[in-house]
Amino acid sequence: MPVIIYRRSESHDAQAVFDLTCRSVSELSPAFYSSEVVETWMRGRNAQTYRNDCGDHAITIAEVDNVAAGFSHGVPGEVVRLFVDVAYTGLGIGAELMRRALRDALPSGSGTVRIDATLNAVAFYQKWGFAKVGQSVFPGRGPELPAIDVVVLERSFDALPD
Ligand SMILES: CC(C)(COP(=O)(O)OP(=O)(O)OC[C@H]1O[C@@H](n2cnc3c(N)ncnc32)[C@H](O)[C@@H]1OP(=O)(O)O)[C@@H](O)C(=O)NCCC(=O)NCCS
Repeated sequence: MPVIIYRRSESHDAQAVFDLTCRSVSELSPAFYSSEVVETWMRGRNAQTYRNDCGDHAITIAEVDNVAAGFSHGVPGEVVRLFVDVAYTGLGIGAELMRRALRDALPSGSGTVRIDATLNAVAFYQKWGFAKVGQSVFPGRGPELPAIDVVVLERSFDALPD
């Protein structure tokens, strides 16, 4: 089992966060999204897109041997992002990143958390007790790009999970 370090992001992590997102998207199964959606997923995004959140220490980075293996981002009421590089899946990194994102999503320790989940990740979040409350698409994409369908999930917490 490799040593996994979890730490808050710095501004210089923006490129790694962008690269991890690109890799995760490229691994998406055609069972969930068309090739047209996968190929255009990251259009208009670059490292700069993640610079402010990284500089604000808002993202949690999981590192193995000084290499970013995954990251998560929670804001009050929402888990915004969670990705684990396919090379490091199955090691518990996703679960620990989820716990940390939930701490940021639940600053008072209780409340309702929303996730706009990509279709492939719905089962992962259902294991955490999240349930489907609707469907949506990722915002901010121009009409020339195919919509990215997401499932809106929610769960109420009385306390932070272990
Ligand atoms: C989904 C994802 C976060 C899981 O990360 P991971 O590091 O492999 O997860 P873990 O090793 O911590 O697994 C924790 C548990 O979740 C389960 N799990 C992992 N991926 C799962 C999936 N896609 N569906 C259902 N369960 C899943 C594991 O079997 C494990 O179960 P256990 O506790 O009963 O043993 C990761 O595969 C990923 O980033 N995928 C692509 C990006 C993505 O879809 N992100 C979400 C965007 S909204």
